[in-house]
Amino acid sequence: MCPFREARKKKEVLSLGYHGNVVNLWERLVHELDTTGELLVDLGSDQTSCHNPFNGGYYPVQLGFLEAQNLLASNPEAFKGLVQESLRRQVTAINRLAQESFFFWDYGNAFLLEAQRAGADVEKKGANRTEFRYPSYVQHIMGDIFSQGFGPFRWVCTSGDPQDLAVTDQLATSVLEEAIAGGVNSSVKLQYMDNIRWIQEAAKHQLVVGSQARILYSDQKGRVAIAVAINHAISQGKIKAPVVLSRDHHDVSGTDSPFRETSNIYDGSAFCADMAVQNFVGDAFRGATWVALHNGGGVGWGEVINGGFGLVLDGTEEAEQKAKAMLSWDVSNGVARRCWSGNRKAYEIICQTMRENKGLVVTLPHEVPDERLLQKALQL
Ligand SMILES: NC(=O)c1ccc[n+]([C@@H]2O[C@H](COP(=O)([O-])OP(=O)(O)OC[C@H]3O[C@@H](n4cnc5c(N)ncnc54)[C@H](O)[C@@H]3O)[C@@H](O)[C@H]2O)c1
Repeated sequence: MCPFREARKKKEVLSLGYHGNVVNLWERLVHELDTTGELLVDLGSDQTSCHNPFNGGYYPVQLGFLEAQNLLASNPEAFKGLVQESLRRQVTAINRLAQESFFFWDYGNAFLLEAQRAGADVEKKGANRTEFRYPSYVQHIMGDIFSQGFGPFRWVCTSGDPQDLAVTDQLATSVLEEAIAGGVNSSVKLQYMDNIRWIQEAAKHQLVVGSQARILYSDQKGRVAIAVAINHAISQGKIKAPVVLSRDHHDVSGTDSPFRETSNIYDGSAFCADMAVQNFVGDAFRGATWVALHNGGGVGWGEVINGGFGLVLDGTEEAEQKAKAMLSWDVSNGVARRCWSGNRKAYEIICQTMRENKGLVVTLPHEVPDERLLQKALQL
């Protein structure tokens, strides 16, 4: 606690690693608060593998690591009981800190969901069971970003040549700069500017560990324009071999995940998994080289459906047509759904996309100007 206190006092940036069970740390922070009146943390989250809590993703505070391993092997039910008790203790500590000015959020690892199942006090009064008293970062921060169509677009240079990756970085930068010059609204402009900074600095940070691949947050317009520019560069021989496009499942449209990516879509449609399925089918018909529809991922088995794709750009006219048709669907499908569920930013973006692409017709929702009308209608 001493270096912690010291750094706070001097307002110094300090990174500290704690080797131990995180529940001990949470409870120690509460002890400090209760005995000295000092709140030592302002912000907090949890990053244990709670999507898989009973098979080693979460280690209970009551046991040492080896003891826990042995119990997991010999008596999984007893292990589960200890995990749930540990989660309840962790939430009790978090709740105590949150009574002060401490802000907690779910990291997207199903921590609040598992804590709720364990009987911890994470309920949001008056809300449904998928809402908790703490926000999920995916909903809190990413919700509006996904609603504008921005998400982790990515590509792999199959030549394996770093020089090809450098060419794609330059192309992506100029595409985004041209998009800004062409005029975009202020919140989209901020996203583009962030992305330009990211892509310009990416090579410097040497993030490539295997395939010559890059990930870049982009919207529908940016994804299509980058794909067309890369395909053109392949046809001109500026990039030596085909490039494969894809994206993360943590994205605008490819996922129905009521506890994560679609947790800010309150119309209940996430439970039908219709968006991920439509995405997968639409991508397949519009030219994806391969598609995948799968369950699980980081949110946990049975809690999410993901649709994914790969699209090979080989420099041909056909590849360009496929990229235009497929990437537009892959993003706008989700923006439309987010618009129907009431997100204002998604409404603006889908209207703008329709203005720019006359072939796209999306049914728009009608806003209810006076919420009391709904109440009246329900009482009838
Ligand atoms: N929000 C997102 O988009 C996003 C992105 C990546 C991962 N995730 C989720 O975050 C979680 C973590 O991902 P990861 O790749 O870091 O997993 P990981 O399994 O590599 O790391 C989790 C770590 O937590 C440790 N741990 C478990 N219980 C603990 C305890 N009680 N005290 C201290 N340490 C404990 C484990 O030993 C492990 O080292 C997963 O559930 C994953 O699905 C979310």
